[in-house]
Amino acid sequence: MLAGSVDTSATAIEWALSELIKHPRVMKKLQMEFESVVGMKRMVEESDLDKLEYSDMVIKKFIRTHPVAPLILPHQSMKDCMVRDFFVPKKSRVVINTGAIMRDPIAWSEPEKLSGKRH
Ligand code: HEM
Repeated sequence: MLAGSVDTSATAIEWALSELIKHPRVMKKLQMEFESVVGMKRMVEESDLDKLEYSDMVIKKFIRTHPVAPLILPHQSMKDCMVRDFFVPKKSRVVINTGAIMRDPIAWSEPEKLSGKRH
């Protein structure tokens, strides 16, 4: 639990900060949202999260462009199955490339960019 949570969160935050430095307009909008929803006198509470709509969208964009675990964890198929044209026999080790899915040009316009949108 510790190994799975600490490094992932630290890496995600590091990428988020590096993107914010490159996108000062986004940083400003985030600061304005935090100031208006949370204010300057207290920390963010879990109950604020629903109201932090812009922050929610931006964090999802950071995670799409910089997935911390692009190949997630190995999985094993529980039964024979087909994925499109591919036959996957029972008990195969399956590695899902979420990094490629999240930068798939068929699904996203300008997939490498933070501003990339879903087609
Ligand atoms: C940005 C932060 C994080 C990322 C990118 C991340 C990524 C992942 C990934 C890719 C998996 C495997 C999912 C799968 O293959 O089905 C996973 C599972 C898991 N993560 Fe995280 N994680 C993050 C934060 C955390 C935190 C903060 C905790 C705990 C406090 C945590 C606890 C777990 C646990 C317990 C599992 C196993 C779940 C299961 O198999 O049922 N993770 N995580």
